[in-house]
Amino acid sequence: MAIDVDIETIGEDVRMLEGIRTTRAIRRIKPDPVPNELIRKVCEAGTFAPNGGNRQPWFFIAVTEKERRAYIANLYRKTFTRYIATPLKAAEDPAYPDAKRRNMNAAIWLAEHLHEVPVHLFVAGWTRRGAPQTQALFPAIQNILLACRAVGLGASLTTAHVAYGKQIDSYLGLAEDTPTIALIPIGWPIGKYGKPPRRSVDECLFFEEYAGAPLAPRQQAVH
Ligand SMILES: Cc1cc2nc3c(=O)[nH]c(=O)nc-3n(C[C@H](O)[C@H](O)[C@H](O)COP(=O)(O)O)c2cc1C
Repeated sequence: MAIDVDIETIGEDVRMLEGIRTTRAIRRIKPDPVPNELIRKVCEAGTFAPNGGNRQPWFFIAVTEKERRAYIANLYRKTFTRYIATPLKAAEDPAYPDAKRRNMNAAIWLAEHLHEVPVHLFVAGWTRRGAPQTQALFPAIQNILLACRAVGLGASLTTAHVAYGKQIDSYLGLAEDTPTIALIPIGWPIGKYGKPPRRSVDECLFFEEYAGAPLAPRQQAVH
């Protein structure tokens, strides 16, 4: 069912900080189509992201045709099945935390229904000295997620397709020096936006210098 929206006004009244706090990952999405003009609007928010030297290294490719979405969903699932195997095993333990279980189940739902999600929005960008400029694109990606929240579209950040990135990039008509780094599945949400579970800012904010508990190895930056 096509949903009628006023592109000019939709999402313009959402208060910014409230929007930021309530932009959780929405993975359960209805199959109803999304107007191209609304996709344009959320991508336009992406173009206002900070970026080095104002090079604006991004391309947004919205895949909406059914057969093309099926092709992408099949490749996504191949990686996702491997990725989810460990959490699935861990979740056999009844003591597995509820929040993690909900998150895992939503991720599984998305993988199983990705072909039905009406818009597969890919974010691609230039490489620099042969390396994808991943860090240059994430501010734009977050802007798009926030804009989706504002206009009431469900969206989430995924990267699992990257394992088949070359194949997908060529399918999308992209050259090797403009790889996709994220796939944002977008559509009208089945659930509602709301605050995601997070630890309090007071556990991670310090003034002048770190003054928390000694850092366990896994909390130290390993890049
Ligand atoms: C870099 C990055 C890549 C991600 N890739 C995937 C992915 O491929 N598939 C997926 O289901 N979730 C992926 N996620 C996780 C979700 O997008 C989401 O951020 C996470 O589940 C937290 O959801 P919440 O904000 O509702 O708590 C990724 C997150 C990040 C930051």
